Amino acid sequence: MRDKMEECSVHHLEKALHHHGDSDDGMLERSVVVEVVQADTSSMHPEIVERAVNSFIKKLSNVDIYFSLTDFQDPFLQEHVKSIRFCFDDENNITDKEKLNMVQGLLSYRVFKLHSAGPEIEEICAGEGDEAVEAASHWILPCTEFQDLWENLIYESNVKNDLLRFVETTLLLADKKVNSNIISCNRVVLLHGPPGTGKTSLCKALAQKVAIRLSYRYTHGQLIEINSHSLFSKYFSESGKLVQKMFAEIRELIDDPNAFVCVLIDEVESLAAARKRSGSEPSDAIRVVNAVLTQLDAMKSYPNLLILTTSNITGSIDLAFVDRADIKQFIGLPSQAAIYKIYQTCIQELVRTKIVVGGENVLPVETIKYKDSNDDCVSMQLWRLAAESTGLSGRTLRKIPFLGLAMFCDVSRKVNVQSFLAGLKKALDRQRADREELKSEED
Ligand SMILES: Nc1ncnc2c1ncn2[C@@H]1O[C@H](COP(=O)(O)OP(=O)(O)OP(=O)(O)O)[C@@H](O)[C@H]1O
Ligand SMILES: [Mg+2]
Repeated sequence: MRDKMEECSVHHLEKALHHHGDSDDGMLERSVVVEVVQADTSSMHPEIVERAVNSFIKKLSNVDIYFSLTDFQDPFLQEHVKSIRFCFDDENNITDKEKLNMVQGLLSYRVFKLHSAGPEIEEICAGEGDEAVEAASHWILPCTEFQDLWENLIYESNVKNDLLRFVETTLLLADKKVNSNIISCNRVVLLHGPPGTGKTSLCKALAQKVAIRLSYRYTHGQLIEINSHSLFSKYFSESGKLVQKMFAEIRELIDDPNAFVCVLIDEVESLAAARKRSGSEPSDAIRVVNAVLTQLDAMKSYPNLLILTTSNITGSIDLAFVDRADIKQFIGLPSQAAIYKIYQTCIQELVRTKIVVGGENVLPVETIKYKDSNDDCVSMQLWRLAAESTGLSGRTLRKIPFLGLAMFCDVSRKVNVQSFLAGLKKALDRQRADREELKSEED
């Protein structure tokens, strides 16, 4: 049985890897994964749920496939399924028609339940009688908290799919027992870029996505977010011991072959800073950095481990660390098209929750270029607002709709989409003015 499953998974991965290259006719092969969240109360076998969802899907119309479906006119699904989502490879470059054709074709299913607890704080002590340090936060995946995070991180480039393929490929190499002295892979990803561009969120979302996509071979995922500040900036002589203990705990987790473990080291520059700042105690700081690097090296042979790191000041990351990262991905500020999509998701959410009315028909960004630029429809107004918003981070952009509502709209009654857009514009101007003021104070 086990062999059969392994064979299956290798076959699946081979297929996944095949997507890297062009197929014979020069077209990139595409696949669609259907993620089905099973209801907590359902004890139905996932295969039965899958079959029911499959026959439901074949009756869907074009528009249904853009959304995560949560409302079913089917008593069986109502009882056993929380949501259904279609995930397309290379989403940015597929037309609606292609999407519908793909959904009518062969589908790959993941049926899973969400863990609702977490995070748990891991405390460790350097020695007996020492003060405990909050060393890490720990989630069992997939969990409710990170559901939808992936879909709501919007990038114009294909960075999300590239990261998923990276993980699939590391597993393929491990499955095929590729000699790591010849093809080296450390399972370390480094995301770097300006503040607020979604680096930390993307790491968490990736951990969740991997736990879902690999649910056919791992029963669950684990995410350990190391609290770099408390772990690396403690008195250095203690830090070394803390790092050892932390990694010993991680080792226990990866020893379970049924779990896929992601370790997130956020703001990894604090490691390098430790080395620089060390002043009178350089040897201790260097020992800490070395302890981390040695641990990372020792763990790279585990196929079920992924190390995710982030930084917003690339220049000062420890070079020994940068060198170990397989992927060093720059995450930049969102483009006009990405901003448009971010605003669009905000409007959709406000329409869904009935706070805003009249914003149901915002056009997909791909069709904007065919519109007359003088057109004054909602979509074109939003497109112009997106242009005015360039230079702002995703973090700021996600707040502007809230500020617009709070400061410039009357939310005691339903807000018309035109008033909402006007509020958005005022909030944006205000944001810019505030930033200018802060900048001039700095100068
Ligand atoms: N490209 C984006 N698309 C959608 N939302 C985004 C994007 N970038 C950032 N956000 C939003 O901004 C918030 C902050 O993101 P996050 O904390 O992950 O950024 P970060 O890059 O880690 O920032 P920092 O460098 O300050 O640690 C998140 O809630 C996320 O929803
Ligand atoms: Mg961050």
